[in-house]
Amino acid sequence: MNTLNTLLLHNTDQDIARAGEILRGGGLVAIPTETVYGLAANALDGQAVAKIFKAKGRPQDNPLIVHISELSQWNALVREIPPQAMALAKSYWPGPLTIILPKSGIIPDEVSAGLDTVAVRFPSMRTTRKIIDAAGVPLAAPSANLSGSPSPTCAKHTMNDMAGRIEAVLDGGDCNFGVESTVVTLAGAVPRLLRPGAVTPEDLREVLGEVEIDEAVMGKLKEGAKAASPGMKYKHYSPKAEVTIVKSDLEAFCKMAEKIDNKETTFALCFDGEERTIPLKCVTYGREDDSLTQSHRLFTALRELDEQGAEKVYARCPSTDGVGMAVYNRLLRAAGFNVIEL
Ligand code: TXA
Ligand code: MG
Repeated sequence: MNTLNTLLLHNTDQDIARAGEILRGGGLVAIPTETVYGLAANALDGQAVAKIFKAKGRPQDNPLIVHISELSQWNALVREIPPQAMALAKSYWPGPLTIILPKSGIIPDEVSAGLDTVAVRFPSMRTTRKIIDAAGVPLAAPSANLSGSPSPTCAKHTMNDMAGRIEAVLDGGDCNFGVESTVVTLAGAVPRLLRPGAVTPEDLREVLGEVEIDEAVMGKLKEGAKAASPGMKYKHYSPKAEVTIVKSDLEAFCKMAEKIDNKETTFALCFDGEERTIPLKCVTYGREDDSLTQSHRLFTALRELDEQGAEKVYARCPSTDGVGMAVYNRLLRAAGFNVIEL
């Protein structure tokens, strides 16, 4: 598989034009967005999109998000845009929000993975929009990690996963948010949150009124249940270490940590400042009361645990309020739904 000579492109007009050419020609380019790096291909070219699944090792039944650079491009991708959807777009686009609607005939099956809906996002990062403009077509892009690994939030992590598998990585610096977009479907009777992100349930309710939270958001789907968002059913975002979320206060956490025999390869994933108290090697991911920073740092922290040789990780449980719901949702998948309460 690792046979391509992957170019490292930079955030210059010349390199953005080069990325556009590669994408128009049916190639793959990893691109920065305000959430995480995406692995992009021409969304209207089924053969190009098929290469994304191969490069990532992504299950075929997991559909992709289509990225646009102007609101007017949305129309051609969906059957119709209901007033509710337009109101949502007007409030939070461009930004970290993905809206699912019934798809139009121009969406290849490779993008929607056999579903009759399509997920669309209008990113706020200027570089992303310039790349879409340079390509001249909407871009299908999942996160640019190998399937199952944490999503990359900088060009280096992207290159680590994708070198040899794709034509180019465009370095646009660190991602602003660091967790993937909020995914909401308006294809059913009641709007439903499928994946939490920086646009919170409260934000959605302000525009939509009632919003259901899919049961896969905060827990594990029951055996045999059909996932509304196929991506949510996989163990995901995982470091190599075995992660356990610990619901407790700091004191109980420290008492548990004291009793651990193997302190060489057992780590704590904790909040800033707690590394002074917890009797384990620690990787921090933001202050306890700062969900936005936690979302920004979580995936980098998970990769760092691998780099430091962690085999077992006990994670302090984040707040699930506001953006915290996205942090908890990702950490829960990194932990393979492994949660203990002290
Ligand atoms: O922030 C993001 O959304 C990033 C950047 C690159 O834009 N992209 C991203 O893509 O996270 P991906 O493929 O890693 O996650 C897309 C999620 C998956 O859970 C997938 O199952 C779901 O959205 N999804 C996509 N299309 C869908 C559809 N038509 N119906 C239900 N779920 C869908
Ligand atoms: Mg992903």
